[in-house]
Amino acid sequence: MLAVNAGNMLFKRETHKSDKVKAAQLTAELIIAANEYIEYDALNIGAYDLSLGIDYLIDKLSKSKAPFLSANLYNRHGQRLFPPTVLTEVGGYKVGILGLTDSKLKVDKIPSGHKLVVADPIKEAQQLVPQLIEEGARLIVVLTDLKGGALRKLVRKAPGIDIVISSDKRNNRSLPLVVDDSYIIHLDRGGRGVGQLDIDPVTDTADEEGSSTRGRVVNDRLLRNNYVQLRLDIPDHPIVGPMVLGAKVHISAAQLEKMNGAHVDESDCGKEFVGSDSCRSCHEERFANWKKTKHAQAFQVLVKKNSQYDESCIICHSLAFECDNGNISLANVEKFNNVQCESCHGPGDLHVLSKGEQSMKPLPTKKTCLKCHTPERSGEDGFEYHMSGICGNRS
Ligand code: HEC
Ligand code: HEC
Ligand code: HEC
Ligand code: HEC
Repeated sequence: MLAVNAGNMLFKRETHKSDKVKAAQLTAELIIAANEYIEYDALNIGAYDLSLGIDYLIDKLSKSKAPFLSANLYNRHGQRLFPPTVLTEVGGYKVGILGLTDSKLKVDKIPSGHKLVVADPIKEAQQLVPQLIEEGARLIVVLTDLKGGALRKLVRKAPGIDIVISSDKRNNRSLPLVVDDSYIIHLDRGGRGVGQLDIDPVTDTADEEGSSTRGRVVNDRLLRNNYVQLRLDIPDHPIVGPMVLGAKVHISAAQLEKMNGAHVDESDCGKEFVGSDSCRSCHEERFANWKKTKHAQAFQVLVKKNSQYDESCIICHSLAFECDNGNISLANVEKFNNVQCESCHGPGDLHVLSKGEQSMKPLPTKKTCLKCHTPERSGEDGFEYHMSGICGNRS
C-alpha cells in the first residue's frame, strides 16, 4: 500500500486575512504534527501550502519526517527546495512518485515570495518521468494541485505518467478520467474522506464481462477508485484525537483575541441578512417552532466542542457563512450564529422592510437542506428528514 497526499493540505487559500493568520498557523502546525502518525510515502506541496511564505514552510517542514515533494519549487540560485521525486517499492513493484506544484501561484502575493521561483511543471515532468523509468519505476504517479486543462496538458506532453492524483481547490471531487493512457483522479480538500485506488493486473479469467468490478482498464491494469468517507462515528486515533482537541483550545483562544475590535468590511450580515429576531413579530408561531429545533442550538454544540471559531464547522452551524458570502468574518460569528430562518429562506431585509409585501426567495427545497445535511453528517442513505415540521405550520 502507498499513502500519498496531493497537496494543499496545510492551508485552504492563497492569502489569509490578518486576523486569521494565527489560527491558520496553529492549524497547519497541528496537521504537520499529526502527520507523524501517518506513514506517508509522499506528499506534494500545493500552491496554498505556501500561503504563509516559503520561509515559514521550510522551517515547519524541517522538523517533520513526512516526505514532502516538489519538483518545480526553486530558490533564486536555481536549487530545488524539496526533493522532486521518490522511488519506492510495493509488492515487489517499483513505483516512482513525482510532486508538482501549481505554477499559477502568485508568488508576489505570498510572504518572502521573492525568494521563490516556480518552474514550469510540465518541463520538470518531461525530464523526471523518463529518469524514474530508467531507475526501474514500473508505475509513475504524479501528485499535484494542477487542475483541469493543465492536467490534461501535463499527461499529453509528458508521456509515461500512469496515474495523476490531484487535489482540487474547489471543494469537489469528481469522477476519474482517462486521458491517453493516464488515469486522473481528483479529491476534495475538505479532509472529509480518503481516496482509495486499487490497482490490479488484468487477468484473462476474471471479469471478462465486467460483471463484478466497476473499475477501468488502463494500460493493462484494472483501476478501481473508491472514496471512503471519514464519518464522525469513526473513533479518533488515540494520540491524534487528543492532539486535535488540545489544538482547538488554542485556535479558539487565538480567534477570540482577534475578534475583539474586529470590524467587517464587505459583508451582507446586518444588511441583507437581518437575523431571526427580526422575523419574530410577524411569524410568532414559526419562530417558536424554530426555537425548539436543533437548528436554533446548532452553535451551542460547537461551543461544547471548542470549535466555535473553527471555520470548517461554522459554515454549517451558523448563518455567518451565508451572510459573509462564504468568507467568514469573525466579527459576525457570535452575532449570526445558529442555523437561522435565513439559512434556509435566504436574505430577509427587503421582506422585513416592506412588512412582507416583498416576497422572500421561493420556499426552500430539499436541495437547501443538502447544503449542510451531507451524507457524512446525516447518513449514507441520503437525507431522510421530513421537510414539513422543520418549520412548523402556517402562521
Ligand atoms: C457540511 C455541513 C457541516 C459541517 C462542515 C459541520 N457540521 Fe456538524 N452537523 C451538521 C449537520 C447537518 C448535523 C446534524 C446531523 C443530523 O442529525 O442529521 C450536524 C451535527 C453535529 C453535531 C451533533 C450534535 C448533536 O446533537 O449531538 C456535532 C457535535 C457537530 N455537528 C459538530 C461539528 C463540528 C465540531 C464541526 C467542525 C469540525 C462540524 N460539526 C462541521 C453539519 C455540519
Ligand atoms: C431548516 C430550514 C428552515 C428554517 C431554519 C426555517 N424555515 Fe421556514 N420553511 C422551510 C421550509 C422547507 C418551508 C416549506 C415547508 C413548510 O411549510 O414547512 C418553510 C416555510 C415557511 C413559511 C411558510 C411559507 C408558505 O407560504 O407556506 C414561512 C412564513 C416561514 N417558513 C418562515 C420562517 C421563519 C420566520 C423562520 C425562522 C423563525 C423559518 N422559516 C426558519 C425551511 C426553514
Ligand atoms: C412585518 C411583518 C413581517 C416580518 C418582520 C417578516 N415577515 Fe415574512 N411574511 C409576512 C407577510 C405578511 C407574509 C405573507 C403572508 C403569508 O404568507 O403569511 C410573509 C410571508 C413570508 C414567507 C412566505 C413566502 C413569501 O414571501 O410570501 C416567508 C418564507 C417569510 N415570510 C419569511 C420571513 C423571514 C425569514 C423573516 C425574517 C427575516 C420574515 N418573514 C419577517 C410578514 C413579515
Ligand atoms: C445551514 C446548514 C443547515 C441547513 C441549510 C439545514 N440544516 Fe438541518 N441541521 C443543521 C445542523 C448543524 C444540525 C445539528 C444541530 C444540532 O444538533 O445542534 C441540523 C439538524 C437538523 C435536524 C435535527 C436532527 C436530529 O437529530 O434531531 C433536522 C430534522 C434537520 N436538521 C432538518 C433539516 C431540513 C429538513 C432542512 C432543509 C429544509 C435543513 N435541516 C437545513 C444544519 C442545517
